[in-house]
Amino acid sequence: MKPRVCSPLSTSLVAGTGTCCILTLYSAHPFLFLNVQEKQQQWAWQWNKLYDDNKWLFSEWIWPNTFEDFRGKSVLDCGCGGGQHLQFVAPYCAEAVGVDLNALASAARNTADLKNVKLIENDIAKMELGRTFDIVYSIGVLHHTDDPTASFRNIIKHAKTGGKVIVWVYSKEGNALNRWLVEPAKNILVHYLPRSVVLFLSRILTALVSIPVYTVYLLPLKFLPYYEYFQNWRKLTFDRNVLNVFDKLNAPQTFFIPHSQVEGWFRDSEFTDVHISPYKGVSWRGSGTKR
Ligand SMILES: C[S@@+](CC[C@H](N)C(=O)[O-])C[C@H]1O[C@@H](n2cnc3c(N)ncnc32)[C@H](O)[C@@H]1O
Repeated sequence: MKPRVCSPLSTSLVAGTGTCCILTLYSAHPFLFLNVQEKQQQWAWQWNKLYDDNKWLFSEWIWPNTFEDFRGKSVLDCGCGGGQHLQFVAPYCAEAVGVDLNALASAARNTADLKNVKLIENDIAKMELGRTFDIVYSIGVLHHTDDPTASFRNIIKHAKTGGKVIVWVYSKEGNALNRWLVEPAKNILVHYLPRSVVLFLSRILTALVSIPVYTVYLLPLKFLPYYEYFQNWRKLTFDRNVLNVFDKLNAPQTFFIPHSQVEGWFRDSEFTDVHISPYKGVSWRGSGTKR
């Protein structure tokens, strides 16, 4: 029986690399050979501890695409985390493959009963899966990779001609607080704290932020920072908001992507039916049909 979970060895090893010695070295340190992104244990920790069960949020991130668009399709989830989105799309699609560099154990646990889901441990910027898919999506991942544009260029290679590519990324626009406060605080302090402490801090922060969100932000004061974003906050459970806060503090690296960069990704020469829209003032949704 084929394994449901594959490592970079089984997916990316080029035939004829040579001696047994090289294979042994490769098997111990595949990242030396492939120049793939370093593994980041923070993500493994996050998806082992926390879970996202918000199907409606996913449906808004992939908009204007819908779950019905996944029906009968082959699907590639680039950076599948704990496999939560695979759980959402698996009932619709014919097959779904999830790729993640760090969190595959959690994804395997969460998708264990889904027969049409396969998992591959790999770097989405470097993977060569040797096949293409009807739908390739990457939600909340490109901005955490070493090179978001290189990652985008590699994931679209895995979409069929006429297939869909769907991405959701943090925007540069509207994220001043994250860029100038959260990111420096992470670099100075948060990265060095044990993850359990960061989770505890995230709970406190979530409780504190909830005070204005459930008072001042109830008023129609649209000029307030993160006004749209906090409208969503009230639709989510406390634990889901903790995940949101923790996710931001935990991420080892984050780029904030300007609109022009997303536009550059979905160039007319390569895509038709392009749709790029802001989401809650803090992120970009992009999708297009590959020519
Ligand atoms: C914020 S989580 C998003 C997970 C999932 N897509 C979601 O929205 O719930 C980012 C995920 O991207 C993965 N990741 C980061 N860089 C990666 C890379 N270069 N290749 C594959 N996965 C990567 C991390 O391991 C992590 O699970």
